[in-house]
Amino acid sequence: MASRVDALYFFLLALSFFFSLLIAGLIVFYAVKYRRRAADSVGSEIHGGLALELTWTIVPLLITMVIFVWGASVFFAMSRPPDETINIYVVGKQWMWKFQHLDGQREINELHVPVGRPVKLIMTSEDVIHDVFVPAFRIKADVVPGRYTHLWFQSTKPGRYRLFCAEYCGTKHSGMIGQVVVMEPSEYQTWLSGGASEGSLASAGAKLFQDLACNTCHRPDAQGRGPVLEGLFGKTVTLQNGEALTVDEAYVRESILQPAAKIASGFQPIMPTFQGLVTEEQLLELIEYVKSLHQLPQVQPR
Ligand code: CUA
Repeated sequence: MASRVDALYFFLLALSFFFSLLIAGLIVFYAVKYRRRAADSVGSEIHGGLALELTWTIVPLLITMVIFVWGASVFFAMSRPPDETINIYVVGKQWMWKFQHLDGQREINELHVPVGRPVKLIMTSEDVIHDVFVPAFRIKADVVPGRYTHLWFQSTKPGRYRLFCAEYCGTKHSGMIGQVVVMEPSEYQTWLSGGASEGSLASAGAKLFQDLACNTCHRPDAQGRGPVLEGLFGKTVTLQNGEALTVDEAYVRESILQPAAKIASGFQPIMPTFQGLVTEEQLLELIEYVKSLHQLPQVQPR
């Protein structure tokens, strides 16, 4: 995205430079040209000038429309990740960055990604507002407690890139820095398979789902007292008040922490809250587990 952001930025800079010089130059030029030559000379009054009025209305309009359309297209490209992305969870806390890969790798203040692949960050905070800022990638977004925000990027060159917290978040805000390590795909695979992994995020979520006894009510056979979760993620559900809602990370999270907030139609508000019982990381595991439940379990062929 960097080249597109920079092109727009330099266009704005050049535009400002051009008009600043033009205006300053004309001021000096006319000040000299129409200087008072005789002690008693008086300038003639000017009443209107349609051509002039039209020019200084239409020219800026055209220029600002170019800026608007160009800026909007860059903005849309930045806010819409491609369909196939590597998803990585980011949890900010005072004062560190925790990264969680779907395969189970966890890292702190270092984020390893493969070069040339779109990466989507799904981000939240454990405590206060932080802000992920990777200047080299021209990406920056707030990380807000109780909410998931997104960023995406596609790196073009292997290397190490600085990551900053760009929201004042307390005493050690300035130390809340990290690095994005962009690797060749083969190196990345080696990195992924190395180290002690405790299994994928979804499998950790599956275990937690059992441990918290969620499975007693959310059963795949539709006999439970809670909604069937298989194939639910990404679907549209109808709530008790008739509203329709797409099941996303935010909805799953809210349903775990404040189950009564948005009840799916046909169900009773009987689920207890898990606020304070699950950490931010465990929430991510549960969300990944729900995401992984694509469809009803298939009958094993003999
Ligand atoms: Cu976190 Cu500043």
